[in-house]
Amino acid sequence: MIAKGLEGVVIADSAISLVDGKNGRLLYRGYAIGDLARFSTYEETAYLLLFGSLPSRAQLASFSRVLRRSRRLSKPLLEVLAGPCRHLLPIDALRTAVSLLVQDDPCPGDRSLEAVLERGIRLIALFPSIAATHYRLSQGQKPIAPDATLGHAANFLWMLTGKKPPAEEARLVDLDLILHAEHSLNASTFAARVTASTLSDLYAAVTTAVGTLKGPLHGGAASAVVAMLDQIGSESRVRAYIQETVRTHGRVMGFGHREYKVLDPRVPVMRDVASRLEKGRRYYEILRALEREMAPLGKKGIFPNVDLYSGTVYHSLSIPQPLFDPLFALGRIAGWVAHVHEQLADNRLIRPRSAYTGPKARRYVPLEERP
Ligand SMILES: CC(C)(COP(=O)(O)OP(=O)(O)OC[C@H]1O[C@@H](n2cnc3c(N)ncnc32)[C@H](O)[C@@H]1OP(=O)(O)O)[C@@H](O)C(=O)NCCC(=O)NCCS
Repeated sequence: MIAKGLEGVVIADSAISLVDGKNGRLLYRGYAIGDLARFSTYEETAYLLLFGSLPSRAQLASFSRVLRRSRRLSKPLLEVLAGPCRHLLPIDALRTAVSLLVQDDPCPGDRSLEAVLERGIRLIALFPSIAATHYRLSQGQKPIAPDATLGHAANFLWMLTGKKPPAEEARLVDLDLILHAEHSLNASTFAARVTASTLSDLYAAVTTAVGTLKGPLHGGAASAVVAMLDQIGSESRVRAYIQETVRTHGRVMGFGHREYKVLDPRVPVMRDVASRLEKGRRYYEILRALEREMAPLGKKGIFPNVDLYSGTVYHSLSIPQPLFDPLFALGRIAGWVAHVHEQLADNRLIRPRSAYTGPKARRYVPLEERP
């Protein structure tokens, strides 16, 4: 029996995260996502994913220093963002930019595990700079230089808006990045590992991963949810929308998950945040109604996933909708780097098989003999 979409197939040992879809648990390196959401920061969580344990105070300070001094974009990259990439969707620009980062690396072929981590930390630092800078350029605004006095999320908001964000806003973005930082062998991480397993470089692996995020079944769900909320328009139209979607075998965005057959443990954190944000109130009310109306589908294992509420939170923080897809990548980059590192530490080329269903052997007919 073929496991379509590799459903349920275990293809690697991994010590990075546990996604327990039956019991609704998610652990990063053994730590529950709820605890990390409450107590950690994205910088600390990224360290944990990359190095396997929580940092000491000195280790975190030094990690944070490296991140802060790696945020600046090179001149050639800025030129590409301002030129050929300017009118691309942010997720396409991010994918192109990651691919181009190879030009700033004097030794991209160095596959030592230390070099992969070093490069990965640079990518974590650069992702917010790329997303914010490209967005500003696409809007005809001047790029803003990074500010080394600000934390990871606060600096992203600064580079995007040119305003020092209130601490609570920076904290919410930080929280969102923690929730999206890692999720075992989801499509993008698997794609990154496949590329890494060929002994290609980290830039190629991460470019592959970003490519998968464009699809609404993976990284595009937050914006698809907001588009759906705009289409529904009000709480009173939720029931009819769901009935029609289910009748036509469509998908209600922000629901369902390949792994979680109970509630995704990231949802309560995001829901709680969304409930406290005034600007997204109208969306929040529609989302609550959607959850109520979708409850009967729980019998089939369909529950809200992390992206049900994330778009509403971004909207409330005035993050432009085209940036929703790259935001996923800003968090997940830590997980991708950890997985590429793990893959290379014990590599074997990933090369599954397919069961051939095409025609049996056929005789080749030269062109002149064909009708
Ligand atoms: C995430 C997703 C791709 C997982 O899909 P999957 O594991 O391949 O699940 P399946 O496509 O096998 O779905 C199983 C059943 O649930 C139904 N289902 C799954 N997600 C659904 C949704 N969001 N709305 C309505 N029905 C859904 C399917 O139609 C299918 O029903 P059937 O057995 O009667 O045909 C899917 O749930 C989805 O498309 N969700 C919406 C997009 C989204 O929110 N993505 C973000 C994921 S974090």
